[in-house]
Amino acid sequence: MTSPMTSSDNLLLLTLNVNGEEHEVITEPRRTLVDVLRHDLRLTGTHVGCEHGICGACTVLVDDRPARACLMFAAQAEGARIRTVESLADPATGELGDLQRSFTEHHGLQCGFCTPGFLMLADGFLAERPEATKEEIREVVAANLCRCTGYQTIVEAIDSCATARRAACAKTCTTIEETACS
Ligand code: FES
Ligand code: FES
Repeated sequence: MTSPMTSSDNLLLLTLNVNGEEHEVITEPRRTLVDVLRHDLRLTGTHVGCEHGICGACTVLVDDRPARACLMFAAQAEGARIRTVESLADPATGELGDLQRSFTEHHGLQCGFCTPGFLMLADGFLAERPEATKEEIREVVAANLCRCTGYQTIVEAIDSCATARRAACAKTCTTIEETACS
């Protein structure tokens, strides 16, 4: 007679790199990345909406690219660099990052449920396309759902942050007589 399978037969030990720190997690193979982030690591800034890859509330960066954390198993993220919305603020002071401040200044959020997903979507996108036009930003934010803002203020917030980053970059380059970030 075979012995019944115990829960420990079905557990994995994962090492996940989240926001620059290594975390060991014991979990079932079928658990999603978003559940492990929220429930095991207590990083509840990442939200869960549809759990079907539609709304984008669960967007995080996986190796710098936006990904739906509800569509990934946590095990699939082992070995990757994961970044959540908690990484945007200054870890020492808690001061909001420039993208977060821009959302606040441009009223890019109302209820805020979608906001972590939009922030990570925008952060990943601007890292890849710092010269993005407003039209490109508009296309990118269409990947996520917001039922409150009408999107215009989100586009304004991302565009304003991108503009400020370019200005700061150009100033730095002028100062050190380089053009690496232009
Ligand atoms: S909760 Fe992941 S896309 Fe909606
Ligand atoms: S601010 Fe409420 S869903 Fe986007």
